[in-house]
Amino acid sequence: MNRALEETADLTAAQPSTFLYKADPLRGQRWAELFSVRAPDIAFHVWPGHADPKSVRYLAVWEPPARIAQTFPNLEILFSIAAGVDQIDFDALPPDLPVVRMIEPGIAAGMVEYVLWAVLSLHRDMPAYRRFQSECLWKPLPLKLAAARRVGVLGLGELGRAVLRQLSTLGFQTFGWSRSARNIAGTTCYGAQEQLPAFLANCDILICLLPLTAQTQGLLNKSFLNHLPRGASLVHVGRGQQLVSGDLLSALDSGQLSEAVIDVTQPEPLPASDPLWTHPRVTLTPHIASMTQPDSAVDVVLENIRRFHAGEPMTGLVNKARGY
Ligand code: GLV
Repeated sequence: MNRALEETADLTAAQPSTFLYKADPLRGQRWAELFSVRAPDIAFHVWPGHADPKSVRYLAVWEPPARIAQTFPNLEILFSIAAGVDQIDFDALPPDLPVVRMIEPGIAAGMVEYVLWAVLSLHRDMPAYRRFQSECLWKPLPLKLAAARRVGVLGLGELGRAVLRQLSTLGFQTFGWSRSARNIAGTTCYGAQEQLPAFLANCDILICLLPLTAQTQGLLNKSFLNHLPRGASLVHVGRGQQLVSGDLLSALDSGQLSEAVIDVTQPEPLPASDPLWTHPRVTLTPHIASMTQPDSAVDVVLENIRRFHAGEPMTGLVNKARGY
């Protein structure tokens, strides 16, 4: 056990301490194994578990249970098991309860893999070649190299920056937009709402990695899509509620967009009757772009518990007013 974890154990040894996990049970089993080795002084329970609710000091959730304050009077930290926290209603929580979202290397690695797959597939016209194959059509399209392709990332948090690093390494021209301007070596960055049209005008392939907030709900609508160069493509790995899917389908039908790779929808699961399923220019995946990996996330969670007790800033602490 390293020094940080020893300190965590010391700090939690004084009173019974439970970490309650309320998300998918399969990964829950792995979390439990990791906790038993790395933090044996913290009792780990998969929801609903048999722990005394008064002993629950840490709760990790996808969707939080109702009446948190009444049920868990000694709760100290609410962890989101995901990078996003839009599934949590902050108004239903005690105002001073810290909420921490998952920033961990595994989730970033998964997102980089998905986005690189999508960008390379769009860049090398794979959706078109798949259609040609279904028609036994031998039809080479002009070949463009990465240096001639502009790729933009909306949202420059941990995931957006990890994706941009790899896209730059592959030689793409990279652009980034975030609410407040950022400096990223090798990427042309834009900030603030008024710079959004100028950013979009540079995106042959646009990747949406924004968190869901009141400002980003419905952001990807007709006028937004019209700012993209004609024939651009979209990779949507933010949240379903950000995309006006009727506007996306119209943009695909009119040729304003050529392809869309969509991993998040509204609602989820997407009903079988939804036209996104069958549109020939949509590639749809069931919200699998990335997910927290217990083996890498456990260090981040235990380090955050240590930091909390030491009065140090936790990684991923949510600013509830900002929404992420
Ligand atoms: C997945 O969507 C996440 O927020 O981690």
